[in-house]
Order: sequence, then C-alpha cells, then structure tokens
Amino acid sequence: MKKGILLAAFGSANPLGESALKGFAEKTGARFPDARVRFAFTSDRMRTRLAAVGKKTDSVKKALCRMGFERYTHVAVQSLHLIPGLEYETLLEEINEAREQGGPGQITVGRPLLQDSADVRLAVKALLAHLPPDRKPDEAVLCMGHGTWHGGAASYGALARAVSAADSRIFIGTLEGARGINGLLPAIQKTGAKTVWLLPLLSIIGKHAEQDMAGKGPDSWHSRVIAAGFACRPVLKGTVEYSGFAEIWLMHLAKAMRELTIQGYDAEPEKGSPDGF
Ligand code: CO
Repeated sequence: MKKGILLAAFGSANPLGESALKGFAEKTGARFPDARVRFAFTSDRMRTRLAAVGKKTDSVKKALCRMGFERYTHVAVQSLHLIPGLEYETLLEEINEAREQGGPGQITVGRPLLQDSADVRLAVKALLAHLPPDRKPDEAVLCMGHGTWHGGAASYGALARAVSAADSRIFIGTLEGARGINGLLPAIQKTGAKTVWLLPLLSIIGKHAEQDMAGKGPDSWHSRVIAAGFACRPVLKGTVEYSGFAEIWLMHLAKAMRELTIQGYDAEPEKGSPDGF
C-alpha cells in the first residue's frame, strides 16, 4: 500500500497564497504522517497563467495519473474549496477520468469546507473564534466569499443565517451570485455600526481578496464601504490560514482517509446543492 494525499485548491499565483497553501500542506503532513502530500490546482486559467511564468502545476487528473504511474495505490483527494460548486464538480469529474486512465486503484474525496449543516455549525464557531482581536462588538464584520449562481451557493446562505443568529453584526456576502454587497450595505447601516471589518471568506489570498475586496479601485468592497459612510478595516488572511477552518477541512480529509482502507470503496459524492440545509 502506498498512500498519498492530493490537496486540490483553486490555485494561486501570489506569494501570500502560496505560503498559505504550503502551511496547510505542512499541517496535513503532520496529521497524516503515513501519506505523502501533493497539490493540484483546479483552475485551468490559473494553471495557464503559472505556466506562462515557468511554473508547472498539475490538474487533479494529471496529478492522479502521475501518482498512479508512481505506484501510489491509495489517494485521498481533499478539496480546499469553500462550497460544493462548479470547481468541486469538475474535481469529481477529473477523479472519474483519472480512475479510467491509470490513476491509483483507490481514490476517495474529502468534501469542501461547507458541505452540510454540521460543517456550517463548525464554521460559525471558527469565524467567531477568529474575529479580529481589535473588533469591538458594535462594529460590523463583512465576509467576502467568491459566490456563484450554482446551487452550492446555498452554503453561503446557511452560513449567513447561522452566523447572524450568533452575532447580528456579522454579514456574509459574495462577489458573484445573489449575495452581492449592494443588498448588504443597507442592512449593515441598520446595525448602527460606524466601522466595517472586511474579511475574505476565500481559501487563500489572491486577486479577489487584494483587489476586489481590499483594493483601492472604485468598485472594490473597501471603496464601496467607505462610500457608504463607514470606516473600513480589511484583513488579508485566507480561510486556510485560520486553524478553526483548517480543522474542518482536515476533518473531511480524515474521513476520506478512513474510507481509503475500505476495500472497493467507490462512493460517488453527491453533486449539486449541499445537503442538510
Ligand atoms: Co473568481
């Protein structure tokens, strides 16, 4: 038996993002010392960008086929995505292709961060535990997720409801999809908060966090929050860097690792909308 772990992230062309992924890989290696840890990037565009500057990366399928060639027999693929959206569906498809094209005999999948209601409960705890230490209770916190029109976006809604029940000044918005900042600013105004903290709900820091969230351009959330009359304090730290969130992914990976040793395990994880909401 030769065991491996494949961490599948969207991808990163940014030193902050890269070091965050490295940190998570080290954590993973320490937790599962009997398996070698590797990376794959799920965004073809990101991989093309990296290739243009001489950085070779693997897609999930390529990485799995390579591991098969290197005689890995058991590989757990851990999604480092936030929600079970399109990226995650592509990941599942690539795993199926790798199964047919020389990938390791036994492949299991660890779910994204927010797959079901138990994950949401843990994510609320993590978010509350990792709020910026300087944030005062009367200040608002606005988290920026990526967002999508895919059914997986239900996870953001579930998280938003659960977190708001715990602290009514914390909001979950998304760059794309139905939870845009326009719909949230009036609700934030109603809380009477004078300051809005901006937190990325993105695995790692990249263009979205640096430009779309904290950037100085007129359309960034930072600029929009200031234009709406608030003081704004952006925090540039990706979700994988917070131990509370990292633990949820590692818990999903632990399950995938257990499933690896069940002979003939070949469950197809459910696609589409997350269960349990
Ligand atoms: Co994007």
